[in-house]
Amino acid sequence: MIRIERIEVEQTYPLRKEILRKGMTLSHKMPGDEDKSSLHLGLFSDMELVCVCSFMKNSNKEFSGFQYQLRGMATSEKAQGQGHGKLIMNEAEEILEKQGVDLIWCNARTRATGFYEKLGYQKAGNEFHVPQVGPHYVMFKKIR
Ligand SMILES: CC(C)(COP(=O)(O)OP(=O)(O)OC[C@H]1O[C@@H](n2cnc3c(N)ncnc32)[C@H](O)[C@@H]1OP(=O)(O)O)[C@@H](O)C(=O)NCCC(=O)NCCS
Repeated sequence: MIRIERIEVEQTYPLRKEILRKGMTLSHKMPGDEDKSSLHLGLFSDMELVCVCSFMKNSNKEFSGFQYQLRGMATSEKAQGQGHGKLIMNEAEEILEKQGVDLIWCNARTRATGFYEKLGYQKAGNEFHVPQVGPHYVMFKKIR
């Protein structure tokens, strides 16, 4: 059974560490993690947390309107490619749209840009490099 719900930021840490920070010295903690306005979502498959993502109120000057930044998008290795990422992102969009958010943006790893494109995100600007993590693009989606 699949269930998506709001979770505490601490619950995102194991998947962030395993999927996004393996072999890196970069912290799994992110600016805004503890803010009341931040949204942390988890997808449980048969009670096991297999997919997490976080959304922080943070504006990028390239865009206008009420913006949230997506961070820490990760699906456990064994659960990837089963539609979990798409489900959790759709749920997040619904929640944020109800809160009056106009646009979601993120710094997307280049190898994950195809995932975001399938969800309707577009690239903005040129590829840039994040130390330890690798090449990225800014991507965004207007949701209202
Ligand atoms: C990228 C990631 C979050 C996708 O999550 P997921 O649960 O595997 O994604 P889904 O199964 O919901 O995929 C949804 C769609 O995107 C596609 N997709 C998934 N990852 C993709 C990728 N890296 N490149 C291109 N397409 C991708 C799927 O094929 C699927 O297509 P479909 O709707 O036509 O069937 C997951 O693979 C992951 O955690 N990767 C490692 C960490 C990472 O790169 N995170 C993103 C940081 S910016």
